[in-house]
Amino acid sequence: MSKKSKTSRKKKKILVLHGPNLNMLGKRERKIYGKINLEKINLDLKLLSEELGVVLKFKQSNIEGELVNFIQEAAKNGTSGILINPAAYTHTSVAIRDALLAAKIPAVEVHISNIYQREEFRHKSLTAPVCIGQVTGFGKMSYLLGLMALVNRI
Ligand code: DQA
Repeated sequence: MSKKSKTSRKKKKILVLHGPNLNMLGKRERKIYGKINLEKINLDLKLLSEELGVVLKFKQSNIEGELVNFIQEAAKNGTSGILINPAAYTHTSVAIRDALLAAKIPAVEVHISNIYQREEFRHKSLTAPVCIGQVTGFGKMSYLLGLMALVNRI
């Protein structure tokens, strides 16, 4: 491939979707989630995305329907992958699961904490079965590993 066509190739778009209370990272339950905040996670993801040659769009919401809207928008605007931490909605949201299914965009689910080491109600994920994979328990690294795995698939 010529140099020109290589540089003019369009980069794939990935939606990074953060669910409820993740805007409170750094302040909330620091024993579980650590001191890192969402801005720092997004910054490190952005740096990694530049190495991987993809473009990230970041969204966070505390509202279930808004997360559904972001997934629906992604399906319309040519987004190639979704990196999602549905947070508490992981364990409850049929709506987010259905939105991921309808969007037909490969998604990877990530969690900062290891949800299987925590309370029993967190052991069940309604969203993971409609994702291509799940990374859980590695703190910020869950996001970075999840992005690498997603880009590798798309
Ligand atoms: C979380 C785990 C969820 O159970 C919890 O409700 C969160 C964060 C995590 O990243 O470890 O809000 O998704």
